[in-house]
Amino acid sequence: MSDTIVIFGASGDLTSRKLIPALYNLFAKNRLANDSRVVGVSRSKFEHEQWRASLRETTEKFSSDSFTDETWEAFSQNVFYHPGDIKNPDDFVSLEKFLQSIEPEKSCGRVYYLSTMPQLYETAIAQMGKAGLADDSNGYRRVIIEKPFGTDLNTAKALNESIHHAFREDQIYRIDHYLGKETVQNIFALRFANSIFEPIWNRNFVDHIQITVAEEVVIGRRAGYYDTSGILRDMFQNHLLQLMMITAMEPPAKYDAALVRDEKVKVLHSVRTMHGSDFAKNTFRGQYDGYLQEEGVPAGSETATFAGLKLYCDNWRWKNVPFYLRSGKGMSCRTTQIVIQFKNVPHILFGEKTREPLGNRLVIQVQPAEGIQLHFETKVPDSEMKTRTSTLDFSFRHTANGGSIPDAYQRLLMDAIQGDASLFARGDEVELAWSIIDPIIAAWQSPAAPELFSYPTGLWGPTESSDWIQSQKREWFDVC
Ligand code: BG6
Repeated sequence: MSDTIVIFGASGDLTSRKLIPALYNLFAKNRLANDSRVVGVSRSKFEHEQWRASLRETTEKFSSDSFTDETWEAFSQNVFYHPGDIKNPDDFVSLEKFLQSIEPEKSCGRVYYLSTMPQLYETAIAQMGKAGLADDSNGYRRVIIEKPFGTDLNTAKALNESIHHAFREDQIYRIDHYLGKETVQNIFALRFANSIFEPIWNRNFVDHIQITVAEEVVIGRRAGYYDTSGILRDMFQNHLLQLMMITAMEPPAKYDAALVRDEKVKVLHSVRTMHGSDFAKNTFRGQYDGYLQEEGVPAGSETATFAGLKLYCDNWRWKNVPFYLRSGKGMSCRTTQIVIQFKNVPHILFGEKTREPLGNRLVIQVQPAEGIQLHFETKVPDSEMKTRTSTLDFSFRHTANGGSIPDAYQRLLMDAIQGDASLFARGDEVELAWSIIDPIIAAWQSPAAPELFSYPTGLWGPTESSDWIQSQKREWFDVC
């Protein structure tokens, strides 16, 4: 069966920078059926040829695999454009007719990608439902929904409910592009394809876990979105909690969408609820210097661009092991890493007895230096019995075909086409994630909010965040 990929929001940045280059790369690798079609939909008026021409340049720039004119010609002849306004029901009726006119057989599968403004998701889905676009009696119909999925628990519930009027849950693919990163999937391999880590992956051996997503970039021209979103909605409700779920989950019985997601959801169920003074003790917020001067940021905005959270999973594996989650804009470098810090040996025989923590840690580098490092103590050569931290270093990139790691969207688009939802968030998962983040947002807007520390860009966030973790006898692992 051949496939049609319909992108709503075709004139947006995501389409030209990520989606079309990802589809082009899949085509170039022969992963898409030769006659698969890509249809862009947005309000602007373009002829097919004009849209193809406008995509050529961006695809050449953003497709990481080698771009050739020949492959582009072959790919782009099946790229189409259909003007349409999400608010106009007639445009959906004409879209359905157009799709039928370009689909060679009656039974073609379709993936609809919602990459519009999030405020339009509900309307778009309702229109698709009414115009028969969700009807899968002649081939599969799946819808991919970009983040943000709601802005809090109530809006996420309302969105889930309205999508379910048109699409069944098994037709819905809520995207979190972090799950499409190869190194995030490699955490599944590390944990569930090796027996050496499993016996120590728990409260008996792990002191704490740190998950850091640091970004050098600042908000630029995104104030309109960012100032109402802030770091918690932008990064924690989705990416950080996804990384935490995969690090903390139990092994599923099979690598299967339902079972994987069941295990992830159990992690969220186990996150300890914070009350009263917990918010001041276990959450930390900051704002980079210059944020208030960014174009479009309202005077006196208290939006956080940096946050640290200390969460606990109250379950057998992780009872009382803190999970430190940290993310910020305007940081020292772009790095996403997960640090599993193991406990100290019970009795220190060598060297400075007070040197803590010793280097027993596993560092999973999600990006950009994709890899895994195991830090452990070794003897300092030619010395008395003194130890120092040494590293076993695995580079994911060096083992990749030709050294290039595919962009997350390639994996996720392919999975949606093939009907594998393992790397997409389920409705209950998204709602539970909001139910963890909402109370923190509310506490930060209350009179009892923890102080908002400012920080200069180019470092590791507010220096007070190091004091915060040091007061708990731990240290951030600040390595680029
Ligand atoms: C997005 C956020 O979801 O993820 C951005 O909205 C952030 O603010 C981006 O910059 C980070 O993604 P990546 O893949 O560059 O780490």
